[in-house]
Amino acid sequence: MSNYQNITLQTDQNTLILTINRPDKLNALNTQTLAEIKEAVYAAQSQKDVYGIIITGAGEKAFVAGADISEFKDFNIEEGKILAGSGHEIFNLIERSEKPIIAAVNGFALGGGCELAMACHLRVASENARFGQPEVNLGIIPGYGGTQRLIQLIGKTKALELLMTADMIKAPQALDLGLVNYVVPQEELIAKSQEISQKIYSKSPKAIAKIIKCVNAYFDGPTDGFEFEIEAFGSCCNTPDFIEGTSAFIEKRKADFDR
Ligand code: COA
Repeated sequence: MSNYQNITLQTDQNTLILTINRPDKLNALNTQTLAEIKEAVYAAQSQKDVYGIIITGAGEKAFVAGADISEFKDFNIEEGKILAGSGHEIFNLIERSEKPIIAAVNGFALGGGCELAMACHLRVASENARFGQPEVNLGIIPGYGGTQRLIQLIGKTKALELLMTADMIKAPQALDLGLVNYVVPQEELIAKSQEISQKIYSKSPKAIAKIIKCVNAYFDGPTDGFEFEIEAFGSCCNTPDFIEGTSAFIEKRKADFDR
C-alpha cells in the first residue's frame, strides 16, 4: 500500500505523527483508513528512527467521530463480525506495540474514535475534546474493544453508564474519570504529547517494551472470570473436602479436613 489516501505521516524528533485525514467526514474510520493505520503502525515497529507514535486527527473538530456509519449500515451478521474482527486485530496491534503510542485527541472521540484512543498507551486531550460510545443510538454496541477497554480504564460503574446512556463527556470529566492523562489547550496538544514521548524515549526502550507487555498481561488472564468461576465451583463438588464440609454443617459439628 504505502500510498496513503486517508492518513498522513510525518516524523519529528523520532516520533511518527500519524494523522487521520478525512476532516470532511470528521475522520470517521472506513475500511481503507483502518487498513492504512494498520500498515503504518506495523511498519513503524521496525523503523529504527521511529521511537514512538502519536495518533491524531486532521482539523480542529474531530479526532475520530467513529466507524464510518455509511459503510456498515447494511451489513448482515457475518459482515458485522468480519468488521469487528478486523478492528480488534488493528487495535490490538496498537495496544501491543512495543513502541509507545499516544493518542492526541483533538476533538470528538466517539465510538470507534474513543476505542482507538483507548487502545493507545496514553491519551492527551485538547480542551474541546468530547468522548463517548454512542453505538446504542444506532442499535449496535462498540465493536472495536470498547466494552472491555472502557471498563479497564474507568471501572464498571461509569463504563456501564456511558455505554448504556450514550452520553458524551467533555475533556475535564474524561480527566476526572481517568480516561485521559492530560487536558491541554488545542494548540499545545502535539507539544504536550511530544514532551511525554521524549521523556519515555530517554528510558530503556527494552524496558518500556516490557512495561507495555506486563501491563497488558494484567488483563490477559482468564478472559472470562465468570466462566472460570463456574468451572472452579464444579471442580470442588464431590471432593473429600466438599463431602466433609457439607456433612459437618448438616450434622452441626466442626469440619475436620484432611491436611
Ligand atoms: N460515520 C460516517 N460519517 C460521519 C460520521 C461517522 N461516524 N460522523 C460524522 N460523519 C460525517 C457526517 O455524515 C457529515 O458528512 P456530510 O457533510 O457528508 O453530511 C460530516 O461528517 C460532518 O458531520 P455532522 O454530523 O454534519 O457534524 P456535526 O457537527 O453536526 O455533528 C457529531 C458532529 C460528531 C455529533 C455527529 O457527526 C455524529 O453524531 N456523528 C456520529 C457519531 C457516532 O455515532 N459514532 C459512532 C459510530 S459507530
